[in-house]
Amino acid sequence: MDALLQRINQNALNIQASSIRAFDEHISKIDGMIKLTLGEPDFSTPDHVKQAGIVAIEGDESHYFPTPGSLKLRQAASHFLNNKYQLRYDANTEVIVTVGATEALFASLLTVLNPGDKVVVPSPFFGMYQSMIRLIGGEPILIDTSADNFILTAEKLEAAFAEHGDAIKAVLINYPSNPTGAIWTEEQAKAVAKVLEDRPVFVISDEVYSELVYEGKHVSLGHFLPEQTIVINGLSKSHAMTGWRVGLVFAKAPVMEQVTKVHQQLVTTATSISQEAAYEALQNGANDAEPMREAYQARRDFVYQTMTELGFTIAKPNGAFYIFARIPEDLEQDSYQFALDVAEHARVGFIPGSGFGPGGEHHVRLSYAASMDDLEEAMKRIKEYITSLR
Ligand SMILES: Cc1ncc(COP(=O)(O)O)c(C=O)c1O
Repeated sequence: MDALLQRINQNALNIQASSIRAFDEHISKIDGMIKLTLGEPDFSTPDHVKQAGIVAIEGDESHYFPTPGSLKLRQAASHFLNNKYQLRYDANTEVIVTVGATEALFASLLTVLNPGDKVVVPSPFFGMYQSMIRLIGGEPILIDTSADNFILTAEKLEAAFAEHGDAIKAVLINYPSNPTGAIWTEEQAKAVAKVLEDRPVFVISDEVYSELVYEGKHVSLGHFLPEQTIVINGLSKSHAMTGWRVGLVFAKAPVMEQVTKVHQQLVTTATSISQEAAYEALQNGANDAEPMREAYQARRDFVYQTMTELGFTIAKPNGAFYIFARIPEDLEQDSYQFALDVAEHARVGFIPGSGFGPGGEHHVRLSYAASMDDLEEAMKRIKEYITSLR
C-alpha cells in the first residue's frame, strides 16, 4: 500500500484538507458549543424554489441537461446579472451552470492555468483557492491586505507584477470577501482594473456574496475588464441553496468555449433537478435575498458592536456574513490557541485567522449566519470569558 500511496499525484498529496472543517470538527465535540464557524446560510431555501424542485422530480426531470445548463436557466441568470449589476452576457454562449461555485472556480482555473503559472490571491483568502491552484500545479502569490482594510490596492498589485512579471497568469478576486466581509468601492476596483487592462492576465472574480451587501453596492471587475474577467456566482448564498449545488460562470464567448469543455470533462452537466429549482429562484425570486440580507445586517451590527466594545479591532464588514476580528492585544495572540481557549472556556466556536493566509494571524473569523438567539448567547459567553481574563 505504501508504495502505491507514494505514487499518488504529488499535488494531491500536498494539499491540506480544509483547516476550517478540521477545526470545526475538533471543537464540535465540546458539549453545548455555539458554533459560529461555517459559512452557510441558516435560512431554508425559499418555499417556491423547493416546490420547483419537487415538481421537477415528479415531472421526471431525471435526464442529462445540456452541458452548459438549461437554456432557460442561462437566460434567467444572464438577465439577473444584467438587472442587478449591469453585466451583460449572452445566455447562448457566455453563461454556464456548474455544480456550485466550487466547480465554477475549479473549471475556470483549470481552463486558464498551465503548471507553473502564478495566480495573485489577495489574503486573507478563502482556503479553497490555494488548494485548487496547487492541485493544478500553479503557484498562489499571496498579497497581504490586512493593512489596507482587506482591499487589494493597485500599488500592491503593481508590486506583484514588478516581482513576478509575465509568470502571473491570473488574479483571483473575491468581494464581498470570505473571510473578511470586505467590499470594494468603484474607485478601488477601477484602480486595480487600470493595472490589469493592458496585461494579458485573467481575472477570476468570485462574486458568490454579491447579493449580501449592506452599505454601498456590489462592484464587479467584469464591468471594467469584460474581456479578461471570468465572473463566478451561484445560488448557495443568495438563495440559501448550498446543498443544491448550483453555480454559474460568466465569460466572453471565446473564453467560455474553453471553460465549457473543461466543465464537460469534470461533471458532464449540473444536476437537472437543481437547475429547475435554480431557474425558479432567478426567474421569480430575484429578490429572495432581501429579507435574509436585512436579518444578516441586524446581526452584523449587534456582533460588531459587542466585539468592538470588548476591544476587538474590526474593519466593519459591508458584505457576506463574516466578521474578521483582530484579537485585543492584552489577550492570547496566537489565533489558533485563542480560538481553542474560547471554544473550551466560553463554548463558542470561532475559526483561527491563521488558516486564512498572510494577514490572518492574530484574528478570528466568525460567521453571523446564525440565529439572533444563538448570537446573543454567544456574545454573552464571550463577554463573560474575556471579562474573567482581565
Ligand atoms: C468565497 C466563496 N467562494 C465559493 C464558495 C463555494 O460556493 P458553493 O457552495 O456554491 O460551491 C464559498 C463557500 O463558502 C465561498 O465562501
